[in-house]
Amino acid sequence: MKLGVNIDHIATLRQVRYMSDIDAHNAEPDLLAAAETCVRAGAAGITVHLREDRRHIQDADVFRLREGLKTKLNLEMGNSPAILAIALKVRPDEVCLVPENRAEVTTEGGLNVAGQQEALRPTVDALRNAGIRVSMFIEPERGQIAASHALGAEMVELHTGAFANSEDGAQLAALVRLREAAEQAHGLGVQVNAGHGINYTNIARIRTLPHVVELNIGHSIVCRAISVGLERAVREMVAAMQQ
Ligand code: PXP
Repeated sequence: MKLGVNIDHIATLRQVRYMSDIDAHNAEPDLLAAAETCVRAGAAGITVHLREDRRHIQDADVFRLREGLKTKLNLEMGNSPAILAIALKVRPDEVCLVPENRAEVTTEGGLNVAGQQEALRPTVDALRNAGIRVSMFIEPERGQIAASHALGAEMVELHTGAFANSEDGAQLAALVRLREAAEQAHGLGVQVNAGHGINYTNIARIRTLPHVVELNIGHSIVCRAISVGLERAVREMVAAMQQ
């Protein structure tokens, strides 16, 4: 299992103070420096979500990360023509298509791929034609996996939010759904990733999932970094994934 660190929250911290001038000489934290720290600590990739409302990551961040990062860049985005145009200019290694709703605090559910195949097809085709690997952030449901595969997505990212937000028996039931989804996707030849709400505790269950190639984790790592620093927070998560 590899770790992709989602650094959106690091941009959030910068926006709180420097929203009006992210290029100010004293603007901090520096996103590229933070991304490099994550990589030094064992992250296999960096993930950012360029939201339509630009509440954290800005266009310039994505270009700068693409330019400066020595590792894989995964861009999360909603299916919007304006963001697609930016993605095609930036050419990240991977794009993960996510649902986006302006009022949400974070991505709340999986993308309904089965319900909007025709709207997604041109976006998936454009990305793939540009040599960008495509992932779909979906609920662990059979129909969503089949639809992602039918559209030509190389990967799915299974939404672990329902698992993370439930406890005890309900969490185990959610884990079973994730396991079945991972088996199905793997059987179709689709790479299995997972993410959302994974932390230093529930990783013990997540790491029992079969076929998972990459986990995307943001919130919990950035929170831990407040106490122990970013490098150690990433190292601890990498170690917890590999135990
Ligand atoms: N994967 C996707 C597709 C997401 O939208 C998010 C949240 O931005 C994450 C992973 C990371 O979730 P968390 O911040 O809860 O670790």
